[in-house]
Amino acid sequence: MNELFGTLSDGTPVHRWTLERAGVRVRILSYGGIVQSLETPDRDGRAGNVVLGFADLDGYLAHPDPYFGALVGRYANRIAAGRFPLDGVTYALAQNSGPNSLHGGGRGFDKRVWEVAPLEGEAYGLRLSRVSPHGEEGFPGRLEVTATYRLEEDGALAIAYEAVTDAPTVVNLTNHSYFNLGGSGNAGGHELRLAASRFTPVDENLIPTGELADVTDTRFDFRRTRKIGGGYDHNFVLDGGVTEAAREVAELHDPSSGRVLTVATTEPGIQLYTADHLGEPFAPGDGIALETQHFPNSPNHPNFPTTVLRPGEVYRSRTVYGFTTR
Ligand code: BGC
Repeated sequence: MNELFGTLSDGTPVHRWTLERAGVRVRILSYGGIVQSLETPDRDGRAGNVVLGFADLDGYLAHPDPYFGALVGRYANRIAAGRFPLDGVTYALAQNSGPNSLHGGGRGFDKRVWEVAPLEGEAYGLRLSRVSPHGEEGFPGRLEVTATYRLEEDGALAIAYEAVTDAPTVVNLTNHSYFNLGGSGNAGGHELRLAASRFTPVDENLIPTGELADVTDTRFDFRRTRKIGGGYDHNFVLDGGVTEAAREVAELHDPSSGRVLTVATTEPGIQLYTADHLGEPFAPGDGIALETQHFPNSPNHPNFPTTVLRPGEVYRSRTVYGFTTR
């Protein structure tokens, strides 16, 4: 089902779609493909919203920087100095975060209205699509993108991305939900497990140095479940690299509500961001972002898994968020 959620200043309507299955209810906006709310049961069966967001469109328009719940592209995370080489040409992107291009530039996929249609013949899925024209925010190639949101039989939220281009380009898509499995308050007490033996250390501009560093004996070792705390804005190198099928790579647990979030993905990396700069009306640490992705600044690091997409190829990425309790 869908309803009018708000209207942009140019008159474009924004709709909100609701999907429900197996005790999970998710609300998706046509603006930015935003996951506005995601309700799951706690260990006593009480439903609660586990993602940060706003009740109205103005909330999102007034607080764009944290990318609450949004579909992020054309390149999620950072590209150093907003520049990258491809086939001998250097492309210049919008620099919207210090010297860097972040999350697609000044007006990325999170700030666009997507076309939304229910998946044919079923009530549990939505297909969001848009065309990112050649030159948008500096990226080459006309990119046709779709993101499919679907509640699986067990209530897991699956997000599948596909894209094709008419000229060589780079693509890295993710969803930027901040999870708070307790529903509110500081999420630093959540426990995390990550299937990542390495991470990508960064410089003062949060650009990877290029090293894939061992997590052993560092605060980046989440191979055994432990309390998160705060102070993370880092990409982890997921064991197994790029995979054909999504495999479980992360588990987030809130001891107070008993909620457990599992993350499965085909991606080689995950950004753990402990939301230390959320801004009003939220406090630092109110949510945990687990952004499945290729590594930051890959277009400038030939040793990282490639993010180049060429005509004739299909970009595919899939992430599944599962919900249980214990
Ligand atoms: C980035 C952070 C940034 C946040 C909100 C995260 O994906 O890693 O550095 O502050 O998004 O923009």
